[in-house]
Amino acid sequence: MDIQLSQRTQRLSPSATLALDQKARRLQAEGRDIVNLTAGEPDFRTVPAAEEAAVEAIREGFTHYTEGKGDRRLREAVAEKLRRENGLIYDPEDIVVSNGAKQALAQVFFTLLDPGDEVILLSPYWVSYREQVLLAGGIPVEVPTLEEKGFHPDPHRVARAITQRTKILVLNSPNNPTGALYTREELQALMELARHHNLWVLSDEIYEHIAYDGRMAVSPASLDDDAFQRTIVVNGVSKAYAMTGWRIGYVASPRKAIIRGIAGWQSHLTSAPSAISQRAAEGALRGGIRPVKAMAAAFQRRRDLLYPALAAIPGLKVHRPEGAFYFFVGLGPYLEGTTSAQLAEELLEDQGVAVVPGEAFGWPGYWRISYAASEKELEKGMERLTAWFAVRAAP
Ligand SMILES: Cc1ncc(COP(=O)(O)O)c(C=O)c1O
Repeated sequence: MDIQLSQRTQRLSPSATLALDQKARRLQAEGRDIVNLTAGEPDFRTVPAAEEAAVEAIREGFTHYTEGKGDRRLREAVAEKLRRENGLIYDPEDIVVSNGAKQALAQVFFTLLDPGDEVILLSPYWVSYREQVLLAGGIPVEVPTLEEKGFHPDPHRVARAITQRTKILVLNSPNNPTGALYTREELQALMELARHHNLWVLSDEIYEHIAYDGRMAVSPASLDDDAFQRTIVVNGVSKAYAMTGWRIGYVASPRKAIIRGIAGWQSHLTSAPSAISQRAAEGALRGGIRPVKAMAAAFQRRRDLLYPALAAIPGLKVHRPEGAFYFFVGLGPYLEGTTSAQLAEELLEDQGVAVVPGEAFGWPGYWRISYAASEKELEKGMERLTAWFAVRAAP
């Protein structure tokens, strides 16, 4: 039978991040010794406070639908977290808990965008923003960050990209894939633009606690009251508490109409996230920040292990990440006659090391190398990478 998929479905690009990961897994299943550096999730075990809360939820029979916006107890815990850690005062009614930050982000786009509305994405960007904006009928407008400044944003470039149709500016700091952590001054300049042009700011703060060298991520919502009113904060427990598989994220905004819209979408899409996972997330948030800090310190040690080894490979452009757990490395002279995607394929075939090509982030010519892997794996990966580059045409 001839299958006519919808135009929307046909427009969807499959996730390039997942494609390489799947190939790596296939080779592994065939018995190859693979070092997989594509991971977008902490390799640590979920924090015990979450595990225990989940077991208790099951034993208590907390296993049915919850309120559509999320169980009140969890929304209270999220409101407390936002007050305690970010200085943001929300009513629990101003919060929606979703199946991961990803669903929260999608619902924001569906709530705010009409066909033809433009959304500014600072590139390189996390690919799902682009796909979600397109699904919601919007137009993604890419504004390159300044590589020479470690992929920090340039407010002048952002200003030049704003049109009558611009509706949302998406910010993600610490950033996937670049590891850039925006300064307060940069955020102030961007928020000033948003105020001047009356834009919504969607702030994806999922990596907030993975910040290095004493840096602290600043939520743009915390800058002043105008910023608070126009920023929609998205966060979750996936990265901070090693809870990617539990699928709990959340979104907060003091604008009741926005929250009603988001809750409306959610009510028809998924009813509510898993009750058990919600109790687990509440356990994590109430369990304190200590395990999160320990994890961030481990990521910093790994960054420091990898950085000199990567920087020693001739011709590579390597930035020291300020947060998140990725290197975003420019392949420079190695690209002659080829692409970063092709080189990633060859690296996987030749050396059994998987990385994500920059094509996945709207920024070809680069690789994202995740260090969410054990130090032993990272050392093995670095040895193979160094050997692989050494035999390629010297730049
Ligand atoms: C920038 C960014 N935002 C959001 C998410 C999604 O997080 P969640 O697992 O909570 O849906 C990810 C996951 O990789 C991410 O990298």
